[in-house]
Order: sequence, then structure tokens, then C-alpha cells
Amino acid sequence: MPNKHIKVTVLGAAGGIGQPLSLLLKLNPHITELALYDVVNVPGVAADLHHIDTDVKISCFMRPENKEEENKPLQEAVKNSNFVIIPAGIPRKPGMTRGDLFNINASICAELATFIALNAPEATVLVISNPVNSTVAVFKEIFVKHGVFDAKKLFGVTALDHVRSNTFLSELIEGTLPNHYDIPVVGGHSGHSIVPLFSQSKGDVSLKILNDENILDALIHRVQYGGDEVVEAKQGKGSSTLSMAYAANKFFNIVLNGYLNLKITELASYIYLDNAIPGVTELKRDLKPLLDSQHLEMPEFLATPMTYGPDGVAAVNYSWVKAMNGKEREMFYIATDFINQNVEKGVSFVKA
Ligand code: NAD
Ligand code: LMR
Repeated sequence: MPNKHIKVTVLGAAGGIGQPLSLLLKLNPHITELALYDVVNVPGVAADLHHIDTDVKISCFMRPENKEEENKPLQEAVKNSNFVIIPAGIPRKPGMTRGDLFNINASICAELATFIALNAPEATVLVISNPVNSTVAVFKEIFVKHGVFDAKKLFGVTALDHVRSNTFLSELIEGTLPNHYDIPVVGGHSGHSIVPLFSQSKGDVSLKILNDENILDALIHRVQYGGDEVVEAKQGKGSSTLSMAYAANKFFNIVLNGYLNLKITELASYIYLDNAIPGVTELKRDLKPLLDSQHLEMPEFLATPMTYGPDGVAAVNYSWVKAMNGKEREMFYIATDFINQNVEKGVSFVKA
């Protein structure tokens, strides 16, 4: 029996990610209530999950046709939530970039952020909706507007890049499995903003692979553009949903284990680099000379490895900055430029 009441809300619960993610959450012994919200189709998903004989209570909320009542379900869905996970928004089709999703998804995120700010200001928020590099900035700006922003509790979910890195690397090294690896991935979550640090794997990465420029380049490219692989394979029927649900659940469990003081695990996520977070000052100190040498601005947001505790981020791990090799530093410079532009887009959207 869980000894603490844990309410988790999924916004966009009837979608391609929302459904399998909600299934995984329904199996979580630490969750008391799982609130499912969507603008369509969610009653069927909730009825289906409700039949599963685990202890997690399912509650269901859908936006009604009636404009006057429109706000109530979302208010109820997020009220008193400890965690709100957001896979709401449109996915890519072949030929699109994540940036092409910005206008629609930024509006959706701004609306959802406002309701969270007003009804669950203490909640820990996990943003999946793309483009993550910008949508997390939208969340931050709305939370700041409402005076409820806590950088330790707002995360862009980038765990899929780490999951892909482990999988793709294991395919190259005969006799190893994905779980032999724990590749830190920093930067952001789109194309060249994704920087897998294969030289810093906690598993045993064969030097032969790392020293073969062609193999390493192909591996890095596959991680950076892994999303395209799925978008193309799905032929217009969406992007990663099952691997994303797995990755979001993996990340959520790490955050939850920290919140419940059960286990400390390190995994990267995309956060606002607030100096109040342990490790951020040191991270900026170590990044500054590198970025200055390239005339690059310090990014306001960054995916970096960190640990999680009862208040959200426990500490950022900054040791990777000095440990980056020359190739990784070059990738990081390119990533920083992208991230700064993407963040600016999110901030301007809210300010406008
Ligand atoms: P989907 O279209 O299958 O599902 C999205 C759901 O959001 C739908 O059920 C839709 O009704 C709902 N929705 C739309 N507007 C809403 C609103 N205002 N409030 C609540 N729900 C709303 O898409 P998907 O495949 O589940 O992907 C969702 C998002 O996640 C996309 O933006 C996609 O790019 C992104 N994504 C991110 C990652 C990542 O690594 N962070 C990985 C995969 C996908
Ligand atoms: C992914 O990496 O699979 C997601 O960000 C979805 C996408 O658009 O590629």
C-alpha cells in the first residue's frame, strides 16, 4: 500500500503517447489517483484502464461542448496534483521539423500552463509536447506571470534521446545489451541540439567504436534524427508514441523515487538554469569560457544530467562540461545556438 497520496494528471491522455503512458502509470504501485484529461476520446481510454486490477484510481475529464462549462474539467483534472505530465499537442508528419509544430503546440501549452498555475501551483510538471526546447520556455513564462515558477519542478522530457543512445550503441557493439549503457545526453531535444556524450558512458564503450570517426558520426546522427526514423516509418500516422511512453515513464519513475526519498538516480532533463539549483553556478562557471570562445550566449535552458529529490531537482551534475572531448564541444556549440533561438521563440510567444 502506498503511504502517501500521489495524484498524477496526464494532459493529452487519449493520444498516441497519452494512452500507453497512462497504461504504464496505472501499473505504478506508488500512484493513488491517475487523472486523465483530453479534449476528445478520453472516456473510452479511462473506462478501458479502469478495468485493470491495480490499486490506482482512474478519474476522467474531457472538455465539454458547452463553452460555459469548458474550464471545469481541466481545473478538476489538475487540482491537487503532485505531478502533471503533458503529451498534449500535434505530432510531426514526414517532412516537418519539430519547429513546425510550434504555433499550435505553444498555444495548447500556454493554456494548460495557465490552468496548472491557477489550480496546482505546487505540482511537478513534465513537458513532452514538442518542440520541447521552446514549449518548456512557454511553461516557464506563464508560471512566472502567475508568480508560481519553481525551476526545480519544471522539466522538458528528453529521456528518449538517452534511451535511443543506449539502444543504438548496443546494436553496434556485439554481445552487449542496451541496459549495459547509460549514455548522458545534453543540449536540447531536436536534431543538432541533441548532444549524446558517448565518451562519458557509464557502461563499457569499446574504444574501437569511439575512435572510428565514420561509425561514431553515424551513431550520433542516428540519435539526433531518431525521431525522423519513426516519423518516416509511420508514414504520416504520427511520431514516436510507444518508445516515448516508455521513456517518459522511466523519467517519471526517477523523479518520483526522488520525491518519495526512495532512490536517487541520475538522468538528464531540460530545465531552466536557475542559480538556486545546486550545481548550476558551477555548470555556468565551466561553460562560460567555452561559450565565450565562440561568442555564444549562456543558454537559459539546457538538458543536463541531474538527480531528483523531494523538491524536484536535487543537484545538477556539471562534471560532463570539462570531460567533453573536442568533437562533443563542437556539437555543444551548435546545440547552444539552436537552443537559444528556440527559447527566444517560446519567450516571445508568451510576451506577445
Ligand atoms: P497525438 O495527436 O496522438 O496525441 C495528442 C493528444 O493531445 C490528442 O489526444 C489530442 O486530443 C490532445 N490535445 C490536443 N489539444 C489538447 C488540449 N488543449 N488539451 C489537452 N489535450 C489536447 O500526438 P502524440 O503522438 O501523443 O504526441 C504528442 C506530442 O508529444 C507531440 O507534440 C509530439 O511531437 C510530442 N513528442 C515528444 C517527444 C519527446 O521526446 N519529448 C517524443 C514523442 C512525441
Ligand atoms: C521524437 O524524438 O521521437 C519526438 O520528438 C517526436 C518527433 O517529432 O520526432
